[in-house]
Amino acid sequence: MQKTLKSHGTWIGKWTFVLAATGSAVGLGNIWGFPYKAGTEGGAAFVLIYLLCIVVIGVPIMISEILIGRRSGNSPINAMKKSAVDSGASSWWQLVGWTGIIAGVFILSFYSVIAGICLNYIFISASPNELLSASEQFGQVTSSPENLIFWHTIFMVLTLLIVSAGIEDGIGRMVKILMPLLGFLLIFMVIYGMINGAFLKALSFLFTPDFSNVGTDTFLSAMGQAFFSMSLGMGSIMAYGAYMPKEQEIVSTSFSVGSLDTLVAILAGLAIFPIIFAFNLEPGSGPGLVFVSLLSAFNQMEFGQLIGPIFFILLSIAALSSSISILEPGVAYLAEEGFLSRKQSAITISALCWVIGIGTATGFNIFSAVDSSGETINPFLNLVEMISVQYLQPFGGMMIAIFVGWFMSESLIKNEIKTINPLLYKLWRFFIKFVAPLSVVSIFISQLT
Ligand code: TRP
Repeated sequence: MQKTLKSHGTWIGKWTFVLAATGSAVGLGNIWGFPYKAGTEGGAAFVLIYLLCIVVIGVPIMISEILIGRRSGNSPINAMKKSAVDSGASSWWQLVGWTGIIAGVFILSFYSVIAGICLNYIFISASPNELLSASEQFGQVTSSPENLIFWHTIFMVLTLLIVSAGIEDGIGRMVKILMPLLGFLLIFMVIYGMINGAFLKALSFLFTPDFSNVGTDTFLSAMGQAFFSMSLGMGSIMAYGAYMPKEQEIVSTSFSVGSLDTLVAILAGLAIFPIIFAFNLEPGSGPGLVFVSLLSAFNQMEFGQLIGPIFFILLSIAALSSSISILEPGVAYLAEEGFLSRKQSAITISALCWVIGIGTATGFNIFSAVDSSGETINPFLNLVEMISVQYLQPFGGMMIAIFVGWFMSESLIKNEIKTINPLLYKLWRFFIKFVAPLSVVSIFISQLT
């Protein structure tokens, strides 16, 4: 017997799902993570492997998440449970929804701290401190727990306000404003790089592959990046799929979202690297690429006090349209079960993320540590990131692929994706049954060894 669950509503308009899912996908992962990883992992070779992962793992899992979500119309926990029970499989499959929610709480806890730093940088880049270098500036920002917690709180409250307002009036309405703005700012930054930066050098860096340094590490990092960037394996896309109108085409929509996500990652590279190369800065400087290298370029260049804030506003918008999708699955669950109202659910889960986020905020300063190579690290951030991004998220993605590939009844699947080309369907089945699960298993094995 299935009890009736509270409904959440649906996206209004054909484009809202695409905007919301792209908003979820496009985030710190694209604009902060992708360029610095491409920078440290050898440029174009990384980009190519990343593209391969998007096509053979990312898009097939995205199709699976959306179809599970849409057929039930519920939060990932209940969506997994219903699809399993209706396919004659065990209701234990709902655990995949639970691990997703746990992963989401961890991910949002540190995502919000980093996004808070982006908010802070809007102001820092607008009025740079003449006495400090960019790396001293970054040191000053991260050395103060009060400062980090302050911006973390602001970001968490923004996320909470949007999610509590619901699907149509909150998330749906916000993505219709945020996403066009994001596109506009990004194109502006790329054109700026074309005119004023070392654009050709950036192009050849991102598109001339050199496979000499490619190892298993490159594959792992590209696959992890693809999972994170497409928001897979924790229920963000499944939750959003639940609000997708029945007549919308799942397969082509997934391709659109995957392409837009990739396009934004590459455009972010084309916005950042021309500036980096024009000022002779290091493309492989790692996580500090936008906060240190790029800031130092903004500080030196003409109109940097204008271009810098534009860039960090862009980054903050991208982060906000993602954080709402990380919060949504858990909120949807508590609200549809009738335990709490949507607003109370949003407050409860945000508060939990906020508290755990204090660990990341203080890990930069009070509780920082030094690793064996003498570098200062944030042990708490590394721990929560490892649990959520390196283990729970690929695990969730793998379980979703296994469920749809091996356990979900094909008639239920075909009900959701009626008009697919038969060859494409076979290809998708193959990727979801074999390629995606085996790829993830190989990540895990190589992490152990
Ligand atoms: N994809 C987003 C980014 O690139 C972050 C994100 C949103 C996410 N939802 C997610 C990551 C779910 C993992 C799981 O920044």
